[in-house]
Parts: sequence; C-alpha cells; structure tokens
Amino acid sequence: MLKFQTAGESHGQGLLAILSGLPAGLRIDFDYVNFELKRRMGGYGRGGRMKIESDSAQFLSGIRHGQTIGSPIAMLIENRDWSNWKDSMAVTDHPETRAKYKPLSPPRPGHADLAGCLKYNFRDARYVLERASARETAARVGIGALAKLFLREFGIEVASHVVAVGRVALPPQIVPFEVVLALRAKEDILLSCVDPAVEEKMKQEVDLATQDRDTVGGTFEVRARGVPPGLGACAQWDERLDGQLAQAIMSIQAVKGVEIGSAVENAAHFGSQVQDEIGYSREESRFTRKSNRAGGIEGGMTNGEEIIVRGFLKPISTLRRPLESVSFETREPVKAAYERSDVCVVPAAGVVGEAMAALILARAFLEKFGGDSIEETRRNYEGYMDQVRRY
Ligand SMILES: Cc1cc2nc3c(=O)[nH]c(=O)nc-3n(C[C@H](O)[C@H](O)[C@H](O)COP(=O)(O)O)c2cc1C
Repeated sequence: MLKFQTAGESHGQGLLAILSGLPAGLRIDFDYVNFELKRRMGGYGRGGRMKIESDSAQFLSGIRHGQTIGSPIAMLIENRDWSNWKDSMAVTDHPETRAKYKPLSPPRPGHADLAGCLKYNFRDARYVLERASARETAARVGIGALAKLFLREFGIEVASHVVAVGRVALPPQIVPFEVVLALRAKEDILLSCVDPAVEEKMKQEVDLATQDRDTVGGTFEVRARGVPPGLGACAQWDERLDGQLAQAIMSIQAVKGVEIGSAVENAAHFGSQVQDEIGYSREESRFTRKSNRAGGIEGGMTNGEEIIVRGFLKPISTLRRPLESVSFETREPVKAAYERSDVCVVPAAGVVGEAMAALILARAFLEKFGGDSIEETRRNYEGYMDQVRRY
C-alpha cells in the first residue's frame, strides 16, 4: 500500500516527507523532481517568499544508485528562509529571545488562525499558521514527482492548467491533453492558461487585486492520460476513486470545491445530454466514448478515459487591506494581522493538484496490480491489460 505523510513548518528548518510502498527498481530522475518543485514556486501573483526559496529535494533513504529499493523514501527540502527565522522558530526554548517575537494576532478571517488558536489553546497564531501554511505543499510536490515517475512507467501522464482566475475564465472546452502538457515546457509560468489572450486578461485580474491590496482565487484542472480501466472500486464508499481524488484535491490549502468531469454543468442537464455514450473500435479492439463528461470515472472506477478533476480556490485570506477581526486581549474590533503573502496561487495549486492526483492514482494502481519490484508490477499490469484487450 502506498502511504505518505509530510512534516515541517513554513519557516522551520525544512519540509519532510515519507513515502512508502513504491516498488523496488524504479529509476529516479532527480532533475525531474526538482523541476516539479520549481514549477510549484512559479506563477504570476506570488509573494516575496518564493524569491527567497529555491527548493530542491534531498533523499535520505529508500533510493540507492538512482533506484528505489522498496524501503520507505525519506525526503527533505530545506527552507532557505530558516536562516532569518532561527530564533523565532527555535526548537529549544530561549526566554530572552522568545520575548522579542511579537505574537501573530489578531486572527485573519479565512486563515487557520482562529480555529487553530482555539483548538490548540494558543494566543499566537504563528504556532498554527506555520503548519497550516501551503509551504507544506512543496513536500507533496516532491513525493508527487516520484508517483508521476512511477505512473510514467505504465504510460500514464498527469498535467494541469488554469481555467479561471477571478472573473476571467477559459471558455468551456476540453483542451487537448498535448496542449495542457506543453505548458510544462514553458520556462516561466505566468498563469498556466493555454490561451495567451485569456491569460493576459487573467494577469490583469491579478494586477487589479494587487493594486487594490486584495487577493484573487480561481480554478485549475488536473488531467491524467493513459489510466487503465478498473482502478478504484464500487464495493465500499472509501474505495471509490472519485471520493479519494476529491479528498486529495480538497486537502490542498484554499481549495474549497472539487469537480470531476463536467459535474456542475451536468447537474443542470437531462441524463440523455450528460452520459457518455459507449461505442466500440474494432481496429483498436477497445470500447470508446463519444464524450467524457464523467471525467474518466464511473461507479468509483476508472473507465479508461482521461481523468479530469478541477479544484476551486477561494481568494487567499491574508490581505494587505486587512478585514475586521477581534483582539484576543481586549475582545474589541481590530484589523486582522498581515503577514507577507501571495496574491494569486492558482497555477501553483494546479501543480500541487497534479502531485495529489498522481499519488492517489499510483496508490490505486498499486492496490490493483501490487508488486514488490517494478518488473512484478509490470507483469501483473500487462496480464490484466491483455485480459482487457481480449474481453
Ligand atoms: C500554493 C499555495 C500558496 C498559498 N499561499 C498563501 C499565502 O501566501 N497567504 C495566505 O494567506 N494563504 C495562502 N494560501 C492558502 C492558505 O494556506 C489557506 O487558505 C489556509 O491554510 C487556510 O486553509 P483553507 O483555506 O484550506 O481553509 C496558499 C495556498 C496555496 C495552495
């Protein structure tokens, strides 16, 4: 079973992840992992923090001579900003330096500050936000890159693009997978939109938010091509792959909605307009679909079509023009705290979405095909694909 966890605070020494359950013999392309980390750091509307960091992954276990060995993979991404926060975020207690650091409050509406302070009984939201912060997603992207490398062994590719920033949206369409994938080759990520004219308008939307000392949300779409039919299950609620993907995407900071296929639009149409009619190609000996409104999942199982899942981000909550909050000390109305912050993170969230989708797909793939070595997984996979082709 593929399992993963992350640890680390936003301004702590670094971010850690442990990924266990990848079969032995998977060749790791370290440049690819670091490229993925770089992609997460990009995008128009990011704050000062991303200028400080230059993420790169160090692997401490589970890989030997460039290949996985079946043992848990431990990964560390150092925080460059740590050198500025050594005292403030010290693990050991030094009361004389501790007194220098002003607690972060009043709590920011929309952030984890108030809920976390009440839950953990702190008066300083720093204790909460350091972990709640999306800096944590660097760790997810690092191990997500390993999941992507695993999926690639079986011809599965995962990619993302941005379909909306604030009020500016790409017109409804299924963008060809190759076009989405081509965005990866771009040196500088602007807003990861496949249409340059729409992207320019998205940029203006970010500029408007920046000028107004505000923030802006949006929608990203993750796509996975080459996924075999039959991953996930219809047997139990928690085995349904659409539910697992929805949780994984929803777990990304600031994502408040998830859509699989064209679910939102489907809900407003009759069944005859929505279901993806089934055909058969004798040349390719496979079932075909005339459309893919289901986003590649039916009955909690992949159906062999492309996976399409969207994440809807709220505008991020730290505002240069702070909203109303309440002082912890006096209980009087005051303006919320401000902390260096991004204005728009939709492309970065898309990269995190790719990582989460890849981890969930890799887990479902290994649940179906198992294998302690890549060769064993491949044999099991090919045996099943042969069965599907002969069906
Ligand atoms: C890539 C990324 C970067 C983010 N950067 C910021 C940020 O700079 N400032 C901020 O207030 N929120 C930021 N967020 C969102 C917060 O982490 C998130 O809103 C907060 O932890 C509360 O969680 P929730 O919105 O999921 O309820 C970011 C989210 C993502 C995905």
